[in-house]
Amino acid sequence: MKPIRKAVFPVAGLGTRFLPATKAMPKEMLPIVDKPLVQYAVEEAVAAGITELIFVTGRNKRSIEDHFDRLPELEAELQAKNKQALLEAVNSIIPSTVTCIYTRQAVPMGLGHAVLCAAPIVGNEPFAVLLADDLIDSDVPATRQLVEAAHRHDGSVLALQNIEREHSSRYGIVAGKVTGGSCMQIEAIVEKPAPADAPSTQAVVGRYVLEPEIFDCLRATPRGVAGEIQLTDGIARLLHQRKVYGCEYAGTRYDCGSKEGFFRATVELGRKYHGLIA
Ligand code: UTP
Repeated sequence: MKPIRKAVFPVAGLGTRFLPATKAMPKEMLPIVDKPLVQYAVEEAVAAGITELIFVTGRNKRSIEDHFDRLPELEAELQAKNKQALLEAVNSIIPSTVTCIYTRQAVPMGLGHAVLCAAPIVGNEPFAVLLADDLIDSDVPATRQLVEAAHRHDGSVLALQNIEREHSSRYGIVAGKVTGGSCMQIEAIVEKPAPADAPSTQAVVGRYVLEPEIFDCLRATPRGVAGEIQLTDGIARLLHQRKVYGCEYAGTRYDCGSKEGFFRATVELGRKYHGLIA
């Protein structure tokens, strides 16, 4: 498999579960302690060797572009006041070796459609996808775990988590045969099945390494659950032509797209990394 240099960040969703907070502000800019969700995802991608960050944005999302841009007035002010730690925190958001590219999803027609919007920028090479609202705290960055698995298996890899069956209708659920360690070769994938219909309790969470053949699969994918073009349905088509694996990652995932997960991340990361709350 070719090197994985590019990562797609779909950040065009409406974030309705966080209204009214997300009326004028992107969900992905909500902070866990002192960093916006999207910065955690970007740091994870960069730690996996990604050098091109492709953001699929929409209206109301300009603050994401501003966040990853330089702000000379602020830098000068922090320098003048000798606030070196803050200056470093601001300057190190994006390493100089990394490029940010922005494209728009005019209408939020679903995650699969958002990923397809990045096709002209990704081109004909494998790439990572990170959903910023899944924050994964781990010793080895989750994206790096997936990239290594993709090279090992020479195929696409989805991050898996074993869930309670009663929660199956929140996820894409897979079935397949175990290939060793924490990985399986996926034979079926279905979006948000009812618990009785779920083919297993292995759920796909917001990290993927995908081969570029996914784009043609997405082009052929009609609207599915909730009238959206689902990435899961595109992957179901990809299974017919390429090998797709699922690997359980090592780490703790916080579903920061939900209030409960967001609150838990704030408390646990605040305690672990910032010494807040005894
Ligand atoms: P979600 O379904 O969790 O996000 O998509 P949402 O629709 O913004 O949130 P709710 O459910 O209304 O609260 C997961 C990720 O995919 C992106 C979102 O921005 C989020 O990061 N996404 C989703 C898109 O970029 N475009 C879409 O059409 C849908």
